[in-house]
Amino acid sequence: PPRTDGTPTAELGVIGGSGLYALLDDVVEVRVETPYGPPSDALFVGEVAGRRVAFLPRHGRGHRLPPHRINYRANLWALHALGVRQVLGPCAVGGLRAEYGPGTLLVPDQFVDRTSGRVQTYYDGRVLPDGSVPEVVHVSMADPYCPPGRAAALAAARDLAWEPVDGGTLVVIEGPRFSTRAESRWFTANGWSVVGMTGHPEAVLARELGLCYTSLALVTDLDAGVESGEGVTHAEVLEVFARNVDRLRTVLFKTLESLPATRDCPCSHALDDLETGLPGV
Ligand code: ADE
Repeated sequence: PPRTDGTPTAELGVIGGSGLYALLDDVVEVRVETPYGPPSDALFVGEVAGRRVAFLPRHGRGHRLPPHRINYRANLWALHALGVRQVLGPCAVGGLRAEYGPGTLLVPDQFVDRTSGRVQTYYDGRVLPDGSVPEVVHVSMADPYCPPGRAAALAAARDLAWEPVDGGTLVVIEGPRFSTRAESRWFTANGWSVVGMTGHPEAVLARELGLCYTSLALVTDLDAGVESGEGVTHAEVLEVFARNVDRLRTVLFKTLESLPATRDCPCSHALDDLETGLPGV
């Protein structure tokens, strides 16, 4: 439930990726504690078109945290604790097809998890600090992203004449290294569209909290199996992201503005059948 102790609340959330460390101008900085430790940074709460929005830089300000060290559970928990129910997750990705070059915006409808060892659940069968034990939960992940959220993101990009790719599979690698050419060609041969390092477990944890989650994947480079040069560098990723960050921000604002005020999507019903959920969820 939204907090009533004077902490600013928000209904919408954005988790900003590489190159997007701030979103809103007029913000209140909120430090949120969670049972899973600290989130990547403070949450920055402000307004977009009269709607309360919390922004969280996924890697922390100054890009302190590599993808495999991000406390994904704390990040989603903190957003939920502020009252957030719909989350946008922009991220930098590599293109796995020549036609998905730098500057392409793809709104995935599927992901493939190629990470290893990342904690991907709140429901791990342990006794919680308050003494309760949530039941064992297997959430459905057949359709990992929010349909109205995806539709809003696609419409926002089209409004700006930035024709997005509607759907496709985001393969999430463990990182922090980039893929070998063989790995990259294998991803392409499997029909996957783009490759990133942070899309998982973010979408899964959002689902476990009953949150809507929409991924907006900005292609910053062609991955190693598609390009013929030296392979991608982190500097290239940041440089291309910086060139696209203004229009990405505009797409995010427009998407936030048009997200439904009340939810009736499958994500909002993900926990309907639970008898013993997590405290406060
Ligand atoms: N993020 C941006 N470009 C990437 C790539 N080629 N592989 C994995 N993550 C990325």
